[in-house]
Amino acid sequence: MFEQFRPSTRGFRQRHLITGGLGGFGLALAVRLAEDGAAAVLLVGRSGVTNAFQRSMLRRIEACGCTATVVRSDIRTLELPDGPPPDRIWHAATVYRDALFAELTAEQWDAVVGTKVDGYRCLRRLWPDTPIVALSSVVATFGNAGQVHYGFANAWLDHAARTDPNTLAVRLGALDNVGYVTSSADRRALLDRMPFELLRVDDVLDAITQLTASVRNGVRSLYARKARRAKRGHGNYVLDTAQRFLAKVLGGSPDNYGPELALATIGLDSLSTMEVVHHLNDHDGSSRFNPSMLQAPGVTVQAMVQWLNCSSRQSDSFIASHSIVEKRTDVTDRMRK
Ligand SMILES: NC(=O)c1ccc[n+]([C@@H]2O[C@H](COP(=O)([O-])OP(=O)(O)OC[C@H]3O[C@@H](n4cnc5c(N)ncnc54)[C@H](OP(=O)(O)O)[C@@H]3O)[C@@H](O)[C@H]2O)c1
Repeated sequence: MFEQFRPSTRGFRQRHLITGGLGGFGLALAVRLAEDGAAAVLLVGRSGVTNAFQRSMLRRIEACGCTATVVRSDIRTLELPDGPPPDRIWHAATVYRDALFAELTAEQWDAVVGTKVDGYRCLRRLWPDTPIVALSSVVATFGNAGQVHYGFANAWLDHAARTDPNTLAVRLGALDNVGYVTSSADRRALLDRMPFELLRVDDVLDAITQLTASVRNGVRSLYARKARRAKRGHGNYVLDTAQRFLAKVLGGSPDNYGPELALATIGLDSLSTMEVVHHLNDHDGSSRFNPSMLQAPGVTVQAMVQWLNCSSRQSDSFIASHSIVEKRTDVTDRMRK
């Protein structure tokens, strides 16, 4: 994926506006642009500079002879900043409010979708023709439990990039060393189990720098799939394994997770649900388990053991017989609009 791209020096002395410019990816990008000869970077974020790492990165930018300006604003309500217009805009602002769809609140939906979609609309209102590079995600195509709103927002940006002649959407796989993944050990553990390699930000920046030198609109993807694991086989998963695993994820002792305990009642939240789903798929060597299965009435700790000890066909029929009716929330109606 990356070999064909080499850093480019085009766009020397340009001005760049980066939404989410003080976030993990945004700051790494700002430093790279400064090192490549940018004249100025405008970094937009709501909180401004809050830590020593950001300050040290700003010093690196200035040391390259590039002016770094922090613009404290919500991207949805940004007003025209002072100075000449940017030559290029990078839309990297994002919030993550992961939640399973059935539990998603309107506030979570609006925060995630509004930042990307209304943020983009605001940028286009202020600068109708300036090239925009919108940072999208593989989640827009492949989905991810707990991120339906994030996936929708990125898919919306992809659509904008297909219709606007000056918008390029770059769908990224998860980054290894900056941003979202680094913000918690739990997230990292979950992403380590996704079917995509974690990407080093420098490799991504090399690819994006080159890509944006020649491509102005449309959707491009930067991710790498992991090689598929061999199936572990059935018949060797026992109750004790399930109990010890649940105790590790949720706390308490393995004895607290008796075979008749329903999974829907043990206090799984979005992240721990995904822990269990990944655990099942990992042991099964498949991707046939999903979060809604765990919430079905009658799905007990013992059921986990049965699932992993019967063929996929038997277990699929067990799952189907315990399937739940999807909850329809106001979020569903919003999606349709
Ligand atoms: N990191 C990854 O693994 C990964 C993978 C695929 C795609 N991406 C994409 O890459 C981009 C950067 O991701 P990241 O992980 O680096 O994010 P991050 O570290 O969480 O940074 C996001 C930044 O956006 C700012 N922001 C949030 N809401 C805003 C708003 N309404 N107005 C202005 N600024 C706002 C935040 O600052 P304030 O809170 O101070 O406003 C924050 O600094 C995103 O578009 C993301 O979808 C990332």
